[in-house]
Amino acid sequence: MSRKKVIVISGANGEVGHGLIKALSAKPDALPIVVLDLRGLDEHMKPLVDSTIVGDILDQNLLDNLTSEYEIDTIYHLAALLSTHSEFRPEAAHRVNVQGTINMLQVAIEQARWRAKPVKFIFPSSVAVYGMPNLAIKHTIPPVHEDQYTNPITMYGCNKLYCEHLGRYYNSYYRQLAAKPDENGVDFRCVRFPGIISATTMPSGGTSDFAPEMIHAAAKGEPYACFVRPDTTIPFMVMPDAIRALLELADAPREVLSRHVYNVAGFSLSAEQIAQRVMHAFPSAQITYDPTPGRQNIVDSWPRDMNDGIARADWGWMPEYDIDRAFNEYLVPTITAQYADTSE
Ligand code: SER
Repeated sequence: MSRKKVIVISGANGEVGHGLIKALSAKPDALPIVVLDLRGLDEHMKPLVDSTIVGDILDQNLLDNLTSEYEIDTIYHLAALLSTHSEFRPEAAHRVNVQGTINMLQVAIEQARWRAKPVKFIFPSSVAVYGMPNLAIKHTIPPVHEDQYTNPITMYGCNKLYCEHLGRYYNSYYRQLAAKPDENGVDFRCVRFPGIISATTMPSGGTSDFAPEMIHAAAKGEPYACFVRPDTTIPFMVMPDAIRALLELADAPREVLSRHVYNVAGFSLSAEQIAQRVMHAFPSAQITYDPTPGRQNIVDSWPRDMNDGIARADWGWMPEYDIDRAFNEYLVPTITAQYADTSE
């Protein structure tokens, strides 16, 4: 009996999930998509996927059923608790972010054995894996490479960094002492994202959220009190580039990949520079600053910018949106149209 060959997306109802489902389902050679999310999938997304499983990646029965029902070609493992949420429930975050990832890696290993072919495992990591020792260093060093300053100060950052290592381990060393190690296993590929800004959705529980919150509030005509200082600077990327990074890394031939974890970056901006762009687009925006010490400290620990030279060299990564294009051609027009639509 042959099982249906599919792509699995965990955490599919988050904002990266929505963007990814739209992009994957539009590909001419797209495999059917099976999504997994605690909250199910929003109604308007359902026509784009083959089936929706409502459930928890910590539920072993659910994962066993997934393994027996489908031949899984690629897993996009997006399910995670973001950085601010994770600080409020660190142990729960560890279960979801780490145990959840191990569970999905095991699904991949099991599938690879059955089909005698590797299973691609695409994993989004984060700028949160970094931990800058202080603001002076943050502001003076050049964009950070993958292996510099990886001393995260958040549970989420620790979880993502460890999962990067787990992916490398499952890819290359799993059952390394077995008499006959498996020939096929997990083909683990990971991008470290900067803060992501979407024009159509909002993040939930992140610490880079001040950027999307500021832009969306202005478009809705609502005042916004920014929870970090005006000079606070981290790298960002717009959602279309983030989705493209996942798809291009997934499609890259294995032989061109010199590592498992790649930085990708878009542009680096301070909160004040974002506010200026927002004021320019929405002149009646009311933006004030009311820094929250805890969240400020987290964003201060993230680098000003990330060096994505290795991704560019290995698999041809290149962001399409610089700051001007991001605001003028994507964020401002799309957000304006979106709220005009919803007010009708
Ligand atoms: N945007 C994420 C967060 O703020 C960082 O990966 O948690």
